Amino acid sequence: SSNTPVITIDGPTASGKGTVASRVAQQLGWHVLDSGALYRLTALACEQNMIDSDEESAVAQQAQALDVHFSAGRSYLNQVDVTDALRQEHIGLLASKIAAYPAVREALLARQRAFQTGKGLVADGRDMGTVVFPNAPLKIFLVADVQSRAQRRYKQLIDKGISANLSDLLVDLQARDLRDTNRAVAPLKPAQDAYILDSSSLSIDETVNQVLQYWANAQSTFRCR
Ligand code: CDP
Ligand code: CDP
Repeated sequence: SSNTPVITIDGPTASGKGTVASRVAQQLGWHVLDSGALYRLTALACEQNMIDSDEESAVAQQAQALDVHFSAGRSYLNQVDVTDALRQEHIGLLASKIAAYPAVREALLARQRAFQTGKGLVADGRDMGTVVFPNAPLKIFLVADVQSRAQRRYKQLIDKGISANLSDLLVDLQARDLRDTNRAVAPLKPAQDAYILDSSSLSIDETVNQVLQYWANAQSTFRCR
């Protein structure tokens, strides 16, 4: 419901949003929304159904009709576990292309807001604090320099047994950030009331603790009013 508190975590690719969001949610006993997964799932559905990614309305129809569910950290498309397929770099790039279409964003909006139930929600993406949950009581904009981000993504892929090339990754990350930042609709940018958190030299635990600290502070401010 709209009384459910939301912590939004937005930022560029591989800044650590997903990892930090799920740890924070775990600590608080809250739900989590990986909004990027919805764009990636739409991209994968387009690929599977051979939809021309230049056709905005055909792509939006895929987004609208998406048969997805999330369970225990896994993502399912048409009841098939596609968690690993979603992480492929070409799917990330395709997701960023179709995410620029207003009709696609519109089609996914209600789905994202439906996650605001129960005790609380931690939502990560690009426009969680600016568009999807503008009234969230705590907004984080998570950044890290592009070299650290490329290194992290590289290690993440190699650890999963997926082959990767560091300099290709760097180029892909920059291309995606540029497109996400410069698009007309819901561009990647901090909400006016967001905390900018730079995790370049922070561990995951340190980043998670900083977010939890912000939340504790936000609550005590709220109680004093
Ligand atoms: O969701 P997003 O693309 O922003 O990033 P992620 O998939 O959560 O994080 C990318 C990689 O960076 C993961 O392998 C994390 O374990 C790692 N990471 C890190 O090394 N240090 C941090 N402070 C945050 C994330
Ligand atoms: O994990 P990573 O940061 O690489 O990407 P992601 O969060 O899975 O998102 C994939 C793509 O979906 C991004 O490059 C964005 O173009 C798009 N996206 C978006 O437009 N809005 C969101 N709230 C989340 C993702």
